[in-house]
Amino acid sequence: MSDACEMLEYTPDVARKTADLQERVKDFIPPVEWPVVAPLIHAINELKKAKDAVILAHNYQTPDIYHCVADFVGDSLQLAIQAGKTDADIIVQAGVHFMAETSKLMSPDKTVLIPSLEAGCSLASSITGEDVRLIKQKYPGVPVVTYVNTSADVKAESDICCTSANAVNVVEAMGGDRVILLPDQYLAKNVAALTDVEVIAWAGLCEVHERFTSEEIRRYRESTPGLVVLAHPECSPDVLAEADYAGSTSSMIGYVKGKRPARVLMVTECSMSDNVAAETPDVEFIRPCNMCPHMKSITLQNILESLQEMRYEVTIPDDVVVAARRSVQRMVDLGAEGRDFADGVEALVTVEDRASLGPVAGVSG
Ligand code: 13P
Ligand code: SF4
Repeated sequence: MSDACEMLEYTPDVARKTADLQERVKDFIPPVEWPVVAPLIHAINELKKAKDAVILAHNYQTPDIYHCVADFVGDSLQLAIQAGKTDADIIVQAGVHFMAETSKLMSPDKTVLIPSLEAGCSLASSITGEDVRLIKQKYPGVPVVTYVNTSADVKAESDICCTSANAVNVVEAMGGDRVILLPDQYLAKNVAALTDVEVIAWAGLCEVHERFTSEEIRRYRESTPGLVVLAHPECSPDVLAEADYAGSTSSMIGYVKGKRPARVLMVTECSMSDNVAAETPDVEFIRPCNMCPHMKSITLQNILESLQEMRYEVTIPDDVVVAARRSVQRMVDLGAEGRDFADGVEALVTVEDRASLGPVAGVSG
């Protein structure tokens, strides 16, 4: 913790100004911890006003961030759209690096900060711009649809982006009979199950969602009568086959808030259930979850330090910005809505990786 953080005090004024926030997160932050947490929350909220900053937080952020300092919460698509709309001078991304890059692409003139350099993503690190150039050489003329969970370099090599909220519709909007859908092979297989478009995938996986198994879900169903299972489409097709509903993080939240199942299991990152539970006390959450270490590297402490010291600023080379922004903007302009992934039938998908691309004509090294 920095000196500035250590000096923060839990004064009667801080207690009064944070009382309503404490009420929101009382089931997740024990009263004994509040005197430590509240001064950080108060300092962040004051500094945001002083510096004209907004915090865009992903649904996987912990309840203290999600409920107490975020100005806007959402899934990747919603955060990208919001980044393009905000009037604030500074965007602090409480999420992972590819989300901060996407905010920079949507608002290139604003200062975008990511509070931790540890906030990567196993999907984003599975593929490079060079890999995309090679796959385009192997499949000339086939449109490249890229999941936003990628670097700006990869987006710059793509025709359009997608998120878990709109992937099927973006793939179909390409208008052809084949697409390359990168880099999450499970998302690609889950999309292929819902469309007649032939999908060529990349061998990337989410290190959090790949760990769930269908057997695990079946065990929870057997031991919990009336359980409703919601899953993220980064899970395997086997896991989705066991789910009652599958969609983006925000569509899962929308399902719980709208349908109010008595008992629900969210097959996704751990903080999702905590964040929704704070707003739906009538729903019982069964919690086998997996933690995303990258999302969890963002804390109240480093958000405060990020605002105090203006770090770590996200920069993208100008030539990459132009091409990568076009891919994200095309997706946003399409305005494609989501679909329930859980009804798909298994489809055969070609999965490429660095080894399978091999030496391609005219490419050295
Ligand atoms: P969403 O776009 O559904 O929020 O997913 C992002 C993500 O990283 C899930 O692991
Ligand atoms: Fe990446 Fe998976 Fe973490 Fe989402 S949960 S940020 S896809 S590693």
